[in-house]
Amino acid sequence: MRSFADSDADGVGDLAGVAGRLDHLRDLGVDLLWITPFYPSPMVDFGYDVSDYCDVDPLFGSLRDFDRLVAEAHARGLRMVIDIVPNHCSDQHRWFREAVADPDSSYRDYFIWRPPAADGGPPNNWRSNFGGPAWTLEPLSGEYYLHLFLPEQPDLNWRNPAVEAEFIEILEFWLARGVDGFRIDVAHALVKDLELRDNVQHRDVALDAPRREQWAAFDHLYDVGQVGTLDIYERWRSVAEGHDAVLIGETYVLEASLLARMLRGDGLHLGFWFKPMFIDWEPEQIRGVLSNALDEVDPNSMISWVSSSHDDPRAATRFGGGDLGRERALAFSTLLFCLPGLPFLYQGEELGLVDGIVTEDEKADPVGAGVSLGRDGCRTPMPWEPGPGFGFSDAVRTWLPHGGRRDEDTARAQRADPQSWFHRFRALIALRKTHPELRGPGVEWFESAEGLVSFRRGEIFVTANAGEQRIPLGVEGDVLFSTTGRTGTTAESSFIEPGEAIVVLEKSP
Ligand code: GLC
Repeated sequence: MRSFADSDADGVGDLAGVAGRLDHLRDLGVDLLWITPFYPSPMVDFGYDVSDYCDVDPLFGSLRDFDRLVAEAHARGLRMVIDIVPNHCSDQHRWFREAVADPDSSYRDYFIWRPPAADGGPPNNWRSNFGGPAWTLEPLSGEYYLHLFLPEQPDLNWRNPAVEAEFIEILEFWLARGVDGFRIDVAHALVKDLELRDNVQHRDVALDAPRREQWAAFDHLYDVGQVGTLDIYERWRSVAEGHDAVLIGETYVLEASLLARMLRGDGLHLGFWFKPMFIDWEPEQIRGVLSNALDEVDPNSMISWVSSSHDDPRAATRFGGGDLGRERALAFSTLLFCLPGLPFLYQGEELGLVDGIVTEDEKADPVGAGVSLGRDGCRTPMPWEPGPGFGFSDAVRTWLPHGGRRDEDTARAQRADPQSWFHRFRALIALRKTHPELRGPGVEWFESAEGLVSFRRGEIFVTANAGEQRIPLGVEGDVLFSTTGRTGTTAESSFIEPGEAIVVLEKSP
């Protein structure tokens, strides 16, 4: 949202900006748009700290702008999914302010409070996702409150039915405004262990160590993945279904079995699988990360595939940067787009963007403070057109810098060039639409030459070369899609280059 398009020259993207760029998405072949939070917020975590769930922050526009965006999206056949943030709110939300001001207020139990441990420290050993303890002492009452993210993002108490009732109203508010679904932030963690037991710790880790190191030092038995969360989504689903709306969980768990657990029952329709963000460009890891999720999640169609997001370095950067990284990112997307489930692209992925360059002085992400790697690089503004501001904004200074974009990175330049990343991603999306067998269930993994990651979907053969050498393809047929733009037919002896992916309609023997 902040980095898509700025309509009022304040340097921050907004709702009217998104509405003005919908044709780009339509032309790419997108049919569902998810926008990050636009609610009133102190913006400590850029809108993921919500202070009013039923309004629009003036920075992003107004409810009228929102309604207009929904109408414009629908007019282009795009479904609109909004980001709902139920795990925590802002410490400036009325609920939390009242809970602090009056410990006897009914809002106190909207949050999770505990007295200090015997030594005066936090009540248990839980860590925040952003590093440091997951508890902050509230001086007025002398009690700690829980926050799995920043101290400014107190966790809501989902064991209190009043919290659920509030959120049912919030869902209904937005459904009545025409939204087609929700991306549910931190979907795996709403309910916490009743006794708030200590997580099992494998090794010592300092409270100021890199955040992911801190998180990985524990078995998260009690703070995430509690089954009670699923009951909540079953009730949400009955609300959503009355409006034909979809529930997509931000299920940021890195074990496929835990993802499968979060997708059981009649709750979430889909859940994101984030493990691909943590693999190298290496055939065994690529095949493992895909087959692992497909083997665990039933019935092979509930996975939301992603390789980039606003929270992690972009795929093209992770896979080597430059044109090498771009090629590999497209090849990886080719695999994802040919699997059962729902693939998502993160803005700019279709332009082959690598992370923008953000200097120490320009950093904005609170998570980037200290030793942890921040999320600014993947969040720099969209390059729409060559020229100052790159068509993103008329402001002299944007909230994050453009970060070293080149003219050939822009949407305008790429739309004019049939060989561009834009046109290749567009062809990939079209491929998925024209071949229903790519969308249905059932993947047959295929042991091909070392270095290739290959599978079949009916008559369609999909492979990516994640090795170092050119490799004979081993199948004969018509090329439906290739990351390098080749067309025509292939012979068994045709070579596939390192970093290339190809989709072939096999000749029947
Ligand atoms: C999710 C969001 C991330 C945010 C966090 C806390 O992981 O994607 O951007 O900081 O939740 O709400």
